[in-house]
Amino acid sequence: MMNFSFTSTPDIHFGAGKIKSLPGLVSPFGKKTFLLTGRKSFRSGIYYQQLLDALSEQGLQLRISAVEGEPTPQSVDVLRDENAGFNPDVVIAIGGGSVIDAGKALSAMLTVHGSIRDYLEGVGDRVHPGTKIPFIAVPTTAGTGSECTKNAVISETGSSGFKKSLRHRNFVPDIALIDPRLTFDCPPFITATSGMDAFTQLLEPYLSNIANPFTDSLAVAGLEQVSMHLKRSYHQADELRARSGMSMAACLSGICLANAGLGLVHGFASSIGGLFPVAHGLICSVMMYPVNKITVDKLRSSLSSSNALSKYARVGEIFAGDCGKSDDWYIDFLMETIHSLHHELQIPHLSDFNISENDFDAIVAKTANRNHPVNMEKEELIQILEKAL
Ligand SMILES: [Fe+2]
Repeated sequence: MMNFSFTSTPDIHFGAGKIKSLPGLVSPFGKKTFLLTGRKSFRSGIYYQQLLDALSEQGLQLRISAVEGEPTPQSVDVLRDENAGFNPDVVIAIGGGSVIDAGKALSAMLTVHGSIRDYLEGVGDRVHPGTKIPFIAVPTTAGTGSECTKNAVISETGSSGFKKSLRHRNFVPDIALIDPRLTFDCPPFITATSGMDAFTQLLEPYLSNIANPFTDSLAVAGLEQVSMHLKRSYHQADELRARSGMSMAACLSGICLANAGLGLVHGFASSIGGLFPVAHGLICSVMMYPVNKITVDKLRSSLSSSNALSKYARVGEIFAGDCGKSDDWYIDFLMETIHSLHHELQIPHLSDFNISENDFDAIVAKTANRNHPVNMEKEELIQILEKAL
């Protein structure tokens, strides 16, 4: 029986050159505009000064700040404390997933007192009321889909580290402005790892045990884009069709994960990312093949009534670009495709981050199975880590 809810999406403005429409989208919110960017690529690109000129021509009162790395409780608190007096009417974040998460968190924390740590899921004991300053997300990478999600991921790295969310359905950005040209400057390694993150965020909601017909149709549409454009966007940085395809895939992945959850790859992304300073997309890229290979092996050897194997086969059809062969053939094809992507996109292994077998128990203790289609025992999680080492 169908039984589900679907969280709203932002107003989505998608297309090459859309960045030019940003000033017109900002002004209805008021005059005082807070702009958050990363420290490097967007600020050194051709669009930054044009945007500043266009915003000031609108008579907007602008305050600009930059952030680096994945947001921490401390960095969000400092950002909020330094800028609360400005009292912005709208917050804009232009950058990768970390910048958008920082901007999303800032827009929410400007309306409440206390540290963001107090409001994080599984960390603090306060419930955020869902109030926020209007928020516009402008991604410069194609990966996290944060421009369409209701959570901001906040990290603290170390032995008692965590990667947890500030989450509320109201935190879905008011506007997602997605201009694929902004991803042209994204270097190949970031294109690869953020693209693999988007791939994971489409596959996991599709296989999720809380998937629904809405998320399935959007996941299939996104996976089609990944199958056509992930490798091309990596090899041809300024190929607009490939960049557009991956920007679309990332946007769809955000909508899918916000509504159908994520699986075990993201369980590892949370545990490993809390313990070690490794970027989110990179962990997803590393874990994608071993998690899915062992998941398929387990599903095949069990008498599970899950429809996950037929869904894996459907994804295999998408990547093969044909139909008519057996489910097993397409599942094997998909596994080979993910494995070959690992090599072609030059994805490293866990040992490259100084992670060893000695760390496995700590990682496994913090790894949640989330909405994965099959439950994994501790020994199987260790087996996955061994394969990823
Ligand atoms: Fe992700």
